[in-house]
Amino acid sequence: MKQEEQLSRIVEKVVVSDDLHAQWLNSLSMMENTGARKISKYEHPVNTTLIVLKHAAEEARHAYYLKKQIGKLTKDGCPDYSYPYLLAPIESHHYLNMLDVEACRYLKNKLHLEGRALKHGAYLLVTYSIEVRADMLYGIYQEALTRHKSKVNVKSIIAEEEGHLAEMERMLVQFHPEWEKLAADVCEIEVRLFNLWVSAIDKI
Ligand SMILES: [Fe+2]
Ligand SMILES: [Fe+2]
Repeated sequence: MKQEEQLSRIVEKVVVSDDLHAQWLNSLSMMENTGARKISKYEHPVNTTLIVLKHAAEEARHAYYLKKQIGKLTKDGCPDYSYPYLLAPIESHHYLNMLDVEACRYLKNKLHLEGRALKHGAYLLVTYSIEVRADMLYGIYQEALTRHKSKVNVKSIIAEEEGHLAEMERMLVQFHPEWEKLAADVCEIEVRLFNLWVSAIDKI
C-alpha cells in the first residue's frame, strides 16, 4: 500500500476519536520538539544566522502549538511526553534519532566530512527530508481536519514548513554541487524509517 493511502486511513481514524487525536497531536508535538532541540544543539555559539534562529524558533512553536490544540479536544489529556500519552512512542523517538545517525554515517562515507562540516551537512539533509515529509503529512492531516470540521487546524504550521523547505534548498545549493543526489539518498533513508513509524501507528 502506498504511504499516502496508509497515512490517510490512519488520520481518518485519529480525527474521529478525541482520545486518539489528543495522543496523535502529542506525538507530533514531541517530534517537533525533538527537532527544535536538535537544531539548538547544532547551532554554533557564535556563527548562527537569522535563518537558523528562525528555524529553531518555528520548530519550537510547532511543538507548543500542537500541544495547545489538545486542549480543544480533552480537558486534561496528555500533560507530558511520557509513553502512555504518545502513539507508537518507541518508533516516534527512533524515527528522528536514526535519521540523524544514518544521515551522518552516509555523509561520512560519501563525502568524508567530519566535525562542524559533518554537523552542517547532516542538519541540511536531515531537515530537507523531514520538510518533504512534513509537507505530505500535514497536508493529509489538514485535509481530514477540514473535512471533519475539526476545531483543530495546522495551517500555520504548513505555511512555515513550506518556508523551511525552500530555505533548505537554497542552503543545499551552496553546500554541494551534487546536492540533489545527496538529498535523494537521505530521502530514501527517511522513507524507510517513516515506513516503520507508520506501520507502528497503524497498529493502534
Ligand atoms: Fe515543524
Ligand atoms: Fe520545519
